[in-house]
Amino acid sequence: MTKEANVDRVFIFDTTLRDGEQSPGFHLDANSKLTIARQLEKLGVDVIEAGFPISSPGDFESCRRIAHEILGATVTALARAVKEDIDAVWAAIKEAETPQIHIVLSVSDVHIERKLGMTRAQVLKRGAEMVAYARSLCDRVEYSPEDAGRADLDYLVETVEIMIAAGATVINIPDTTGYCLPSEFGGIVRRVIADARGSENALFSVHCHNDLGLAVANTMAAIEAGARRVECTINGIGERAGNTSLEEIVMLLAVRQGTLGLECGVDTKEITRTSRLVAELTGNPVQPNKAVVGANAFAHASGIHQDGVLKDRLNYEIMKPEDVGLDDSRIVLTARSGRHAFHHRLGLLGIKLADGEAEAAWQQFLKIADTKREVTDDDLRKIAAGEPYGNGHATALDVPNEHNHVADTLRHMIFG
Ligand code: KIV
Ligand code: ZN
Repeated sequence: MTKEANVDRVFIFDTTLRDGEQSPGFHLDANSKLTIARQLEKLGVDVIEAGFPISSPGDFESCRRIAHEILGATVTALARAVKEDIDAVWAAIKEAETPQIHIVLSVSDVHIERKLGMTRAQVLKRGAEMVAYARSLCDRVEYSPEDAGRADLDYLVETVEIMIAAGATVINIPDTTGYCLPSEFGGIVRRVIADARGSENALFSVHCHNDLGLAVANTMAAIEAGARRVECTINGIGERAGNTSLEEIVMLLAVRQGTLGLECGVDTKEITRTSRLVAELTGNPVQPNKAVVGANAFAHASGIHQDGVLKDRLNYEIMKPEDVGLDDSRIVLTARSGRHAFHHRLGLLGIKLADGEAEAAWQQFLKIADTKREVTDDDLRKIAAGEPYGNGHATALDVPNEHNHVADTLRHMIFG
């Protein structure tokens, strides 16, 4: 428990630089990784997973530089359950203020038989030996039984018990394939915490993938079942369909704090800046309708919504744009906008229409709006000045716009 009596803490583990970076097309060099790590420190995450040091000399160096520089957050890196990997992790992160070794070894029969070619007993023995070895180097060792979401539950409980007894300080339950339903995943976490002997000596964490779009829901179910650390990434990037999105889970905790009674240490005002930095350095823009950080997350386009927001933001906004570091929400003028938004925008531009001009200007606005994705301030100035549209003025067909697929298709049909 922290601060207020009835509020307890969820610790945020960011794996943007490991799981996020390992997905195709998201590669980051050492300088970019360090830049993002500095921003994650500002954001206030509790743990930064810097990489997978055995994978390449470049990643080893990135992890070493991050561990050397970052203060205030635990720095961890990933190892398979083999000594060479653990040695590489330790060599890379031992200079960190608070280092942690993260070991992953499968727990599902699918993985044990088809990937590892081992028996359950062999996996338990290997895992326990490697946890004990890692503990001989470092006070903090996280054990991730990979593919826990598809594992036999009794065997998962046994695994967790043995790894805690061997010295694991954090047990991370991954839904590696994004397979679980929220009720199932919550049940798995609840059962493990309740039944694994020694669970009171470990911190329980979860790591969810988004293959069926349930990563955030599964993470939330796990928190409700007692997990107090969550692994997530900025913009939800990660292997295949990605990981739990940090900004979504953090804003969920913030917006619904009254119901959940949970808090975390993230400074939400740094969310937009962090999201944009990751998008820029990975070269992967965020989809416009992405929750919290998408370009449309605080944009209102339809007349009904615009009218409601202009009367009171509470009508359609459950969080303030300022809370995630944006200046304001956006009222976007489109063919679905209404008069209230049209006149509001003219007012912001300092434009006053003469008596009797309002209806003609509105009709002109609708004509233009039907030809474009967004009516700009420049268009509004022309409308107010009574300039004709269409003769010599740009239309959707004329405006070069890489996203204007309708215009592209028409251009193709007309000109071949
Ligand atoms: O998806 C997964 O299981 C992982 C582990 C390393 C936690 O990324
Ligand atoms: Zn993962």
